[in-house]
Amino acid sequence: MGEELDLERIALEVGTPCYVYSRAALLSNVRTLQEALHRIKPLVCFAVKANQNLAVLRLFADEGAGFDIVSGGELYRVLRCGADPAKVIYSGVGKTQEEIEMALAKGILMFNVESRQEIELIRSCARQLRKTATIALRVNPDIAVQSHPYMQTGTHHHKFGIDYEEIPAIAAYLRRQPEIRLRGIACHIGSQITSLQPFEKAFKRMAWMFRELCASGIQLETINLGGGLGVRYKDEKPVGAENYAQLLEKHICPLGARILLEPGRYLVRDAGLLMTRLLYTKTTRGKIFYIVDAGMNDLVRPTLYHAWHEIQPLRQVGGELLQVDVVGPLCETGDFLARNRQLPRLRPGALLAVMQAAAYGQVQSSNYNARRRAPEVMIQGNRYSLIRRRETYADLLFQETLG
Ligand code: LLP
Repeated sequence: MGEELDLERIALEVGTPCYVYSRAALLSNVRTLQEALHRIKPLVCFAVKANQNLAVLRLFADEGAGFDIVSGGELYRVLRCGADPAKVIYSGVGKTQEEIEMALAKGILMFNVESRQEIELIRSCARQLRKTATIALRVNPDIAVQSHPYMQTGTHHHKFGIDYEEIPAIAAYLRRQPEIRLRGIACHIGSQITSLQPFEKAFKRMAWMFRELCASGIQLETINLGGGLGVRYKDEKPVGAENYAQLLEKHICPLGARILLEPGRYLVRDAGLLMTRLLYTKTTRGKIFYIVDAGMNDLVRPTLYHAWHEIQPLRQVGGELLQVDVVGPLCETGDFLARNRQLPRLRPGALLAVMQAAAYGQVQSSNYNARRRAPEVMIQGNRYSLIRRRETYADLLFQETLG
């Protein structure tokens, strides 16, 4: 990950399982993207759902990033890390009144609005607070992507956005609503997209929509193309920031609008791993299980999306490779980190790194089986800081009473 620190030392001092992030890799990711986009100068709003740790958010804020949030909790987090509310975009199909009021009161940049009923709620909240709500309409462009079904969002089968055919009528209606300032359009067609084609289709449709609306007298200033840039977990061939930038230059820049982006995974991807310790090995009729101390509650991606994460022993071990299932301690058959994986013969106590775990790793962890959520560590050069401590047993009972 581009840092020198000895991971074994972290394992001894912080314990396992533990998420470890590299500050240098995080910075390199955000700078690589900004470099690729330097002619376009978009506002890059990091999708907080990919990694919500305050130290990570702070690092990105210091690099000039804004944030794409999807809940009041994420808004609270970005404000606590010192982010400028004027760089915060609020997406999501189910914003509550409380969340909308909070976002209006804090003065966020804009809401990406996903339904007619949401528009009405935002209007009434804005009226009550005597504010004008700035919004973009999130367009459902009806464009499919080739990623896991749970990571596709851009067709009419999905709950997201407003069908593109309905957009002109809604935009016309909004012209007469004083509480709302329609400032742009937005889309997000899915996540872990590894081909340029769906991006190109979406960009063309969005550019067309933007022009149609402007031609009908609606003055739009922003166009938001969402996130979705895929990364390499195994053998995927990601499209690369340069190619993505070229598409933007070709289809979107000519509109003369302010461009907003919401990348999540791309900015954190290889900047983190989940460190886990081998507890036991066992062989059942020839099938080998490596039972480790991290489970599906720590990293749910393998079982939820059948996602492939590379697993490396921290210490190089020679000898033959064995085909093993790397499983966790939870009482669920779905509790695995990898199946049928080639790994060397290891002894209990060995440390393993589950790679590419910074995106959608810790954020999706839970307390299932009354497990304490893992700590997070950020390494910088030859030192590290604990940026989230391991939960305690008392933390697990904090909200409960005996009734
Ligand atoms: N904008 C919106 C409105 C989104 O819904 C998402 C992701 C993003 C931006 C960021 O997309 P990215 O650049 O990270 O692809 N839990 C899954 C991923 C779900 C993505 C949800 N939305 C996973 O573990 O892969």
